[in-house]
Amino acid sequence: MFTVQHLERTGSTNDEARRQALLGAPHGTVVHADEQTAGRGRRERAWFSPPGNLYISVLLRLPAAPARIPELSFVAAVAVADTVDRLLPKHLRATLKWPNDVLVDGGKIAGILLEAVDDAVIVGIGLNVLLAPHNMAYKTTTLVSAGGIASVDGARDILLERLGAWLTIWQADGFAPIRTAWLARGHAIGTPMRTGSGNHPVEGSFAGLDDDGALLLNTPEGQKRIVAGDVAVPPV
Ligand code: BTN
Repeated sequence: MFTVQHLERTGSTNDEARRQALLGAPHGTVVHADEQTAGRGRRERAWFSPPGNLYISVLLRLPAAPARIPELSFVAAVAVADTVDRLLPKHLRATLKWPNDVLVDGGKIAGILLEAVDDAVIVGIGLNVLLAPHNMAYKTTTLVSAGGIASVDGARDILLERLGAWLTIWQADGFAPIRTAWLARGHAIGTPMRTGSGNHPVEGSFAGLDDDGALLLNTPEGQKRIVAGDVAVPPV
């Protein structure tokens, strides 16, 4: 299902995948780089990308309605969480923070950046295997520091197998099973959280995911649907 191109170094695997998508590269093309010199995160943030971690971008050409494309970030999140579980000691389990951050013991271990290119979608995934950035606004961790045993290429192979499996489920049965798998690893119902931008924070408690993956928050003004943004979850 996937054809991997392995590069020593590139600016951003998402940019390389985009370039290839515009040249007509087929569904299942995967760009893997050992190192990125201009790795990108969500909301125009830089993504820490030295050698030692996994950086891949998967090019998908799927016959899905454009409105369903954001669901793919949840598909990727459950695939990454499965991968992390396979590589960690049995007592640890990956959890998910809306929309698609993968955490272990409260520390971010992986991030997902979904981008559309014409009618293709690029799913960029960064997974901290050996190294994590310090001095971030949030806690970070790696597979190795959490007690896992993993090589970067081994993690990639498991991840592509899990991504393929979840994509098959999504295509056959829609978003419902993905939503269920996400919720099993997501915030407990009632978790206090804050979202929204600087001058317009929205505070409430987690009330679940809507049928399309939107975040549902119970607030003093009633239930709100959040379709984009970051959430902050106060430490318990
Ligand atoms: C996030 O902000 O949480 C998303 C991070 C996504 C990083 C990955 S690493 C591979 C791919 N190439 C990039 O430049 N970004 C994504």
